[in-house]
This record gives sequence, C-alpha cells and structure tokens, in this order.
Amino acid sequence: MKYNSLSVDKIDPRQRAWVEVFPNAIRENTQVVKSLLAENCLLMAVVKADGYGHGAGTVAQAALEGGAANLGVATLQEALDLRKLGIDCPILILGNLVNIQDLDACLSWDLIPTVSSAREALLCQKIAQSHGKKFRIHIKVDTGMTRLGCDLATVLSLINLIDTLENLLLVGIYSHLALADGHRYGFSEEITSLQEQRFNALLSNLKDSHKNLCRHLANSAGTLRDKALHFDMVRVGLALYGYKPFEDFDDNCFLKPALAVRARIALIRDVPAKTGVSYGHNFITNRPSRLAVVGIGYADGVIRALSGKISVLINGCFYRQVGAITMDQLVVDITENKDIQIGDVVTLLGEDRGSSITPYQWSQACGSIPWEILCSFKYRLPRVVI
Ligand SMILES: Cc1ncc(COP(=O)(O)O)c(C=O)c1O
Repeated sequence: MKYNSLSVDKIDPRQRAWVEVFPNAIRENTQVVKSLLAENCLLMAVVKADGYGHGAGTVAQAALEGGAANLGVATLQEALDLRKLGIDCPILILGNLVNIQDLDACLSWDLIPTVSSAREALLCQKIAQSHGKKFRIHIKVDTGMTRLGCDLATVLSLINLIDTLENLLLVGIYSHLALADGHRYGFSEEITSLQEQRFNALLSNLKDSHKNLCRHLANSAGTLRDKALHFDMVRVGLALYGYKPFEDFDDNCFLKPALAVRARIALIRDVPAKTGVSYGHNFITNRPSRLAVVGIGYADGVIRALSGKISVLINGCFYRQVGAITMDQLVVDITENKDIQIGDVVTLLGEDRGSSITPYQWSQACGSIPWEILCSFKYRLPRVVI
C-alpha cells in the first residue's frame, strides 16, 4: 500500500486535543519552594509518573535549573529514561526493587535504590560485590504510613546488618508522611507530629558514623506546613507542578500551574428543546440549544465520572459540559454565544484570558485528588512544551 508523503511530524499536535506544559512555571515553583528551605536543605523534585503527567524529562530539566539537586522516581524504568536523556544528578527510586536484574541495572546506571529489608540489602551487597563496586542506598522506614518501608522495630538491626556489608554505602534514611496534606482527615496534625517524633527518635538512636546521613521526611504538604519536617532534604512533587497540597492552604507563596489541557471544537449542533444528549441521554435540553462537540474524552484522561459536573473555558468564558463524557468527545452547551466557531480552542484545565479551572475543581467534582487528575492524561494527548 502507498501512503502520501506527509510526514507524521508535520501534523500539528494542536489539531484536536493536547496538554500544554510550562517549564518556566516548574522552574519558578522550584525556586519558590527552595526559598522556603534552610540554606543547606536539599530539594528533591519528585518526577515519577512521567512528571505527574507533564513529561518527566521536561520537568526534571526545569526543576534542576530551578535549584533541585536530586530527582525522585517510582520505578527503575522512570530512572533509566532520565539517565538516557543525559540527566546525571542523583536519582532515588522511591519504589521497592525486588529482583536482582533491576538492582543490577540500578547499580550500573548509578541510581539509588530504596532498601526496606535485609533481603534487599543482601541482594544489593551480592550485586555490588560481583561488580567490585560500592552501592549507594537509602533506607526507608515506616513511621506511620503503613505502606513501604522497614518496621520501626527492626530498622536499627537492618542498619547494623548494612554496616557489616562492605559493598553497601548507606547515604540516606527516610520516611513518608501519611496525612500532612489531609486537614480533611481531621486528625492529620496529630499523626504528622507522631510520625515526626518517631523519625526523630530513630535518628537520635543512630551511631555517630551515621550522623551525616541524608535524612528526609516531607512531601509538598510537609514542606509547606512546617520547617521542622524539612531535615536535610524535602521530596516535593505537587507544589513544583503549581498546586498547593490542600486548597485552603494559607500562605503567601505563589505557585504557578505548569499545565493546561486544551481541545478544539469539532462540530456545532443546533438542537430543539427536549433533545437527549450523548450516551444514556442523561442530559435533555430544556430549550432550543446550541451544542459544541469537543474532541477530547475519557480515553484522553477526562474522567467519565466528571460528566455533567464540569465547565470549560472558551475565549475566557465558562460553558457547562453536558451529557456523558464519551471515549473521544464531550459536549458543551454554548447556547449563550452564537460567535463560537468550529475549531475554536476549549480549555478544560488551566488558564484562559484570566479565568482558570484547577485540578481541585475536577477532583472535588468526581471524588478524586489533584495528584490523580494530573496523572490521568493519556499518551494520546501530545505534550506541547511552551
Ligand atoms: C515517597 C514519596 N515522597 C514524596 C512524594 C511527593 O508528594 P507530593 O506530590 O505530595 O509532594 C511522593 C508522592 O506520592 C512519594 O510517594
């Protein structure tokens, strides 16, 4: 079969639907967060899940330019992707690596694994010994998250074991906060301070030879909430992407959203009153209506649970999304404005002429959290770096 010669690279990524990413915002947010830290406190930019959907390479580069010293990812592949882009700063893998091949790759690519058990420590030792190298590792301890990490009760014996393993170099120790972002959980401060106390108690029991480990506990919420949680490094994700970890966070640090989701109007329909719209006819027009069909759907990451619960921006004005969001399209009621045209740009998230829609609004509408909203945009949406 013969295809015409138009290169796929020449197709404008802004024809249908796309995500705009603003590295300048990431850079500035990093500077803002950095300015809140003590001079010798390091900033780790958390760029897992493809930089919270923004594109890990773009985010990593901008965060490093803004003053981040380290990167944090969840998986080995995420770390390798950054190394292959030529990023050579320390990269900590926050997830557990359980098999020998992954740990081997980790050592070869100078990545730092998180160790939470004797099994992992012994595997790292075996690999490092076979390569005649030292393996730099961080220990993770569970102070109350009840997810990854070594139990508090056994962490000192794990450290003692690591001390006997010649090819391991313990360079960091950390834990993760469960409720720092969650005033909504009611008892968050109590739990956060309990986690802080447990972490401090552990640190005070470390031998002198471990006093210069890089100690870290805080995510965005912990970082913005309380300097006592900063220790030697903070691990910041959400704030670098421009959002405070809880909406009513009362501070004067200004963060700029680093992403916008936009799509174009594919069709405009004039329909009479009492017309059922989209699958299930969950929305029935109550007047003669003008409807815009927008080329973006749940297969792009506009979650179906948002159906009928969001508004979009067109030329700086809000319009209601109506009926079920489908895989590839959604419908917007534009009856009020006869000037809107096919091809006009619709902003689903982000700013348009001074008005904006935030992941908080979406997450409140569908019972999610901003983190999940940001990670929901699929590969079908090209990332356009502005
Ligand atoms: C271990 C760890 N540290 C830090 C972060 C960053 O969290 P945030 O995006 O709330 O700053 C995450 C994200 O989930 C994490 O899993």
